[in-house]
Amino acid sequence: MTQPYRPRRTCLAVPGSSPRFLAKARGLAVDEVFLDLEDAVAPAAKPEARPAVAAALNAGGWGSKTRAVRINDVATPWAYRDVIEVVEAAGANLDVIVLPKVAGPDHVRWLDLLLGQVEQAAGLELGRIGIEAQIEDASGLAAVDDIAAASGRLEALVFGPADFMASIGMRSLQVGAEPDGYTGGDAYHYPRLRILVAARSRGLAAIDGPHLAIHDIDGLRRGAASAAALGYDGKWVLHPGQVDVVNLAFSPDQASYERAEQILDAYAAATGVQRRGAVMLGDEMIDEASRKLAMVIVAKGRAAGLARGGPGGPDSGRPGPGGPGSAEHTPAGQRLGQPGGQR
Ligand code: GLV
Ligand code: MG
Repeated sequence: MTQPYRPRRTCLAVPGSSPRFLAKARGLAVDEVFLDLEDAVAPAAKPEARPAVAAALNAGGWGSKTRAVRINDVATPWAYRDVIEVVEAAGANLDVIVLPKVAGPDHVRWLDLLLGQVEQAAGLELGRIGIEAQIEDASGLAAVDDIAAASGRLEALVFGPADFMASIGMRSLQVGAEPDGYTGGDAYHYPRLRILVAARSRGLAAIDGPHLAIHDIDGLRRGAASAAALGYDGKWVLHPGQVDVVNLAFSPDQASYERAEQILDAYAAATGVQRRGAVMLGDEMIDEASRKLAMVIVAKGRAAGLARGGPGGPDSGRPGPGGPGSAEHTPAGQRLGQPGGQR
């Protein structure tokens, strides 16, 4: 089954054991919300968190947000019950399962098979629930190409910096910050780019992990801008104060968006009407490669609600480039289904 395109500029983590946070999350302007059964929930609270998460999904009110649940990893005694209890009770109101600490393709296959069994038993549409795989240890990064190819349910790879730092022995307690004494530039560049390449090679989204220092908005802004510039689709957020900064970082600015639309128009006119493969636009030569770059910006811009002439401009409300489902206009490696909500 082809998974729909989902904007994921902001993916909000909500502890599944906290009724207050579950209630508050509905009102935040995030693209995805994931109700956490893993590290934000204490071991003793895990059994009660499952029905609380299922009830929150069934209660609705999530608007066009993608509704996700992060289960516990496959090495724990909790993982199978997380899937069975949540999907049986609320599978129709769940879009994606986030699988943490994915160390190899067998982890994803396990979840794919179990989901199929529960979907059949519960009378749910087979294969509709997607998977996001968190790459957050050395084994996962070493196997990331095989992981990205492990299941047709996969929609995204997610970098988990905190667990990753611990796994490789990085000597730092500040998640996402450069480790003291490191002189090699960006200590996270390799895992970020490695994950991004593996994701794109299979048409998946790539999501950056959390910035734990909640009040460090400048650091968050820098980290989000850097991941967005590299090509990432979005980033986790942990607090309402992080939402606007991250949404903004992953939305192209209006000027770049307008320029990208102009490039598509000029290139279409050059190749269609004038039958030329390269043409001048202002003082820049544009060709097929320029068109591909422009399509990435246009698709991300439209998914973020941008329109020509600004919000409310003549193109607002238009579907993504090429229309829903167009592979031709898919931003680098993404499957472009229905920009905006599917519900
Ligand atoms: C997220 O799960 C992380 O480990 O950073
Ligand atoms: Mg983690």
